[in-house]
Amino acid sequence: MANLVLYPFTQCYTQGFDISRNFMGSHHQISEGKARSPAPVALVTGSARRLGSAIARYLHDKGYDVVLHYRQSKAQTQALLAALNTQRPGSAHAIQAPLSLHTDYQALMDSVMTAAGRLDLLVNNASAFFPTPVGQISVDDFQQLFDSNVAGPLLLSQAAGDELARHRGSIVNLVDIHADKPLKGYPVYSMAKAANAMMVKSLAKELAPHVRVNGVAPGCILWPEESNANTELTDQSQQDILSRIALGRTGSPQDIAEAVYFLATAEYVTGHILVVDGGRSLNM
Ligand SMILES: NC(=O)c1ccc[n+]([C@@H]2O[C@H](COP(=O)([O-])OP(=O)(O)OC[C@H]3O[C@@H](n4cnc5c(N)ncnc54)[C@H](OP(=O)(O)O)[C@@H]3O)[C@@H](O)[C@H]2O)c1
Repeated sequence: MANLVLYPFTQCYTQGFDISRNFMGSHHQISEGKARSPAPVALVTGSARRLGSAIARYLHDKGYDVVLHYRQSKAQTQALLAALNTQRPGSAHAIQAPLSLHTDYQALMDSVMTAAGRLDLLVNNASAFFPTPVGQISVDDFQQLFDSNVAGPLLLSQAAGDELARHRGSIVNLVDIHADKPLKGYPVYSMAKAANAMMVKSLAKELAPHVRVNGVAPGCILWPEESNANTELTDQSQQDILSRIALGRTGSPQDIAEAVYFLATAEYVTGHILVVDGGRSLNM
C-alpha cells in the first residue's frame, strides 16, 4: 500500500500499517524498527496539483523523500504518491490537513515525523487565491486568504523550526510578484502575500543561523482556475499580461521547481526572494 497519512482523521497509513491515532492525546507508534531512508525529506504543502505537484516531483527526482500535504485533492495526491513510490518504494508519504489559524501544527509535524522520520526542507506552497473587490470583502474571504498564505506558513514553520535546525535545513515560501505591486481586484490576496514576503525576511533572522528561509516569487506561470479568476483575467487581459512579460510567454512549473531547489541547496543564501517572472515585473 502507498504511504498515506490522513490528518486530522483518526487513522494513519504508512508502509502498509494501519495505525490508530488520537489527536487529543498521543498516537500509536509506527512499526518498531521501520527502516528509514537516509534521504533528506521535503514537506510540500498543497502538493496535489499544479505548482505544488511539480515542486514535489522535482525534489523527488533530485533525491528527496517527500511528504505530500493536501487539503481536498485526495485523488490527485494518491496518484502522485503511487507514482513516486513506484519510482522509489517508501520515498513518498501524504498528509491531509486544512491550514488555518486553528490547525494543530505540532500534531501535523508529529505526523510528518511519524511518516518520514525527519524533515530537511519545508516548502510553503499551499495558497488560496480569489478576487476580493472592495465593497464585497467578507470576514470569510479575509480568513481564507490569510489562513493559507500567512497563518499556515508561519505556524507550520514555527512547528518545524527545531527539526529543520537539527538538519541545517531550510524553508522556501511561494510568494508572488504581487506581494510588491498589488493585483487589481485581489487586495486581500496581495496583502496576504506581502505578509508572506515579510515572513521570509523575518524568519530568516529569527531562525538563523541554523535554518535558512527564502522565497520564490512567481510571475505568470499557470493561469488561475476559472473559479478563482475575475474579469481582470479574461482572454483579453491574459493577452495584455503576456504583452508585458519581457520574455513574451508564461513560465513553466519546472521553472518554479528549479528555483525552489536552488534555494534549498544554496548554503549561503537566506532572506532572499527570487523573482521568477520572465521579466514581468519590469513592466508593472
Ligand atoms: N500559478 C501561478 O502562476 C502563481 C503565480 C504567483 C504565485 N503563485 C503561488 O505559487 C503557489 C502555487 O500556486 P498554484 O497556482 O499551483 O496554487 P493553487 O493551485 O491555487 O493552490 C495550491 C493548493 O493550495 C491548497 N490550499 C488552498 N487553501 C488551503 C488551506 N486553507 N489549507 C490547506 N491547503 C490549501 C489547495 O489544496 P487542495 O487542492 O488539496 O485543497 C490547492 O491545491 C501559491 O502559493 C501561489 O500563490 C502561483
